[in-house]
Amino acid sequence: MDKNLTLRYQEFESAGSMDPADCELVQKAVEASSLSYAPYSKFNVGAAVRMSDGRVFTGANQENAAFPSGTCAERTVLFYAHAHAQGASIVSIAISACQGGVQVSQPVSPCGACRQVMTEFGTNDNPMSVIIVGSERILKFDNANDLMPFSFDSF
Ligand code: THU
Repeated sequence: MDKNLTLRYQEFESAGSMDPADCELVQKAVEASSLSYAPYSKFNVGAAVRMSDGRVFTGANQENAAFPSGTCAERTVLFYAHAHAQGASIVSIAISACQGGVQVSQPVSPCGACRQVMTEFGTNDNPMSVIIVGSERILKFDNANDLMPFSFDSF
């Protein structure tokens, strides 16, 4: 039997056309790219998460001379936020990037490892939205699980 998956998402021309909370989170993600340590790739990624109690945390990619030891911006901030959740859930993450000091034009799409982590911290009862930012357009996905269908979940 053939089955199909469909993916619903929203596209915005700029943060100004998003709701105020999302607009603020996008701005925090853009600012957070200055926290990046990316001497190898020179791709500076920033991420910001909003908690259900209103707190906002930011993080950025942190690289290492032993390349696999580095961490993406998303996992940097997601693990930190989860460690400091104090019973709150993560409701939204925004991701942005700069190259050569200029914001990238197209939205930064999270890698598979970060998507896997998102699916564990956003649940169907408390979905985490994902906002990926470029200077030309911004995409919003209401549920991180939609970005990682059939994610690993066997324990
Ligand atoms: N990177 C992120 O931090 N997030 C993404 O969504 C894509 C890639 C980082 C990993 C590495 O430090 C650099 O960007 C180049 O891949």
